[in-house]
Amino acid sequence: MPTVLAINGSPNPEGNTAHMLRTVLERCSAANCETEMYQAGGRLVRGCVACGACGRIKGRCAFDDWMNGLYLKMAAADAIVLGSPTYFGDLTPEIKAIIDRTGFISRKDGMRFSRKIGAAVCAVRRAGSLHVLDSMQHFFLISDMVVPGSSYWNMAMALEPGDYARDAEGIETMERLGENIAWLAERLG
Ligand SMILES: Cc1cc2nc3c(=O)[nH]c(=O)nc-3n(C[C@H](O)[C@H](O)[C@H](O)COP(=O)(O)O)c2cc1C
Repeated sequence: MPTVLAINGSPNPEGNTAHMLRTVLERCSAANCETEMYQAGGRLVRGCVACGACGRIKGRCAFDDWMNGLYLKMAAADAIVLGSPTYFGDLTPEIKAIIDRTGFISRKDGMRFSRKIGAAVCAVRRAGSLHVLDSMQHFFLISDMVVPGSSYWNMAMALEPGDYARDAEGIETMERLGENIAWLAERLG
């Protein structure tokens, strides 16, 4: 059974990003995938300090915080779905730290994310979501991952928690994304 790991980069575990990710996971689970949600937003963030230790110790970061546990989950998953709200036209610092630190750990660990599925979703009030999506997708594309599409870019227009439920097109986009992740996971074996 393929495994799908969603990582919520919003500090709000009941916010729009979390509910968007839940829609994706629901569709994956309906199509026979095992799913898990990881709440990253709100955790203490330490960025990559470019010490190079991951190149020597392999499979983990010298800073032994939550990132090492998350890396193991990512390394075990068949699909990784990153979710970030738009913050000043960009991703949240939690998602950026995940990209920089697990990105480097995985490269030094035999390109561990190679040929996994990578998908990104973004909540936005008004502007900046395409840039946020691009940033997350750059991570997948340099990590030798496979990126599925949907019926629109993977965003929903939402300000307050709960607004996502009123964005019919956003919901449709998340549903199709979940179906495509499961479809691809089955074919990639
Ligand atoms: C610090 C901060 C910066 C934000 N910057 C933007 C922005 O640049 N563009 C935008 O459209 N919305 C912006 N927003 C609104 C959020 O993206 C929006 O409320 C989103 O739905 C929050 O997702 P969440 O409920 O998952 O936390 C910002 C919100 C915060 C708290």
